[in-house]
Amino acid sequence: MIELIQADITTLEVDAIVNAANNSLLGGGGVDGAIHRAAGPELLEACRPLGGCNTGDAKITPGFKLPAKYVIHTVGPVYHGGDAEAALLASCYRRSFEVALENGVKSIAFPAISTGVYGYPKDEAARIAMGVMREFEGLFERVVACLHSEGDLLLYRKVLEGS
Ligand code: AR6
Repeated sequence: MIELIQADITTLEVDAIVNAANNSLLGGGGVDGAIHRAAGPELLEACRPLGGCNTGDAKITPGFKLPAKYVIHTVGPVYHGGDAEAALLASCYRRSFEVALENGVKSIAFPAISTGVYGYPKDEAARIAMGVMREFEGLFERVVACLHSEGDLLLYRKVLEGS
């Protein structure tokens, strides 16, 4: 079952949290900034040798000071209104799940990738997220969609109930 919660993702006690990063993997604002602050400076040092990450792909590091054991860094598309972006956003969720499975992760929490600075319309992004989460939920003990605002939580609830 997909769990919807309203929280700061850095507080979650799960095996892995997913970071909505950028191609450099060297930190930024939004949820990326919050994760780096909470994990501590070792996270940046662990990201440096990864050599960045393509849009739609995902890479894993330890969680350092976070309650989560791992951070899975994925890079969402910047929204311009095309079909390629929908495929890339779905790929972020899919690749994150695949990397999680390769590393024995049983519980995983995602933020609403691309829906902040990268401008993806929230309802469309929610439908894409829920679609891929449905494909993988049976392979995990917990799959969490972690929303930052109450409005996002209500939107996801509507999309999940309708799917
Ligand atoms: N916990 C959970 N969700 C959060 C948190 C948090 N602590 N903080 C923000 N959100 P964004 P993007 C939500 O902008 O659109 C960074 O600078 C937020 O409300 O963080 O993928 C990166 O380095 C929104 O719903 O990520 C990239 O350059 C969602 O997280 C760029 O932003 C995603 O918003 C990535 O942009």
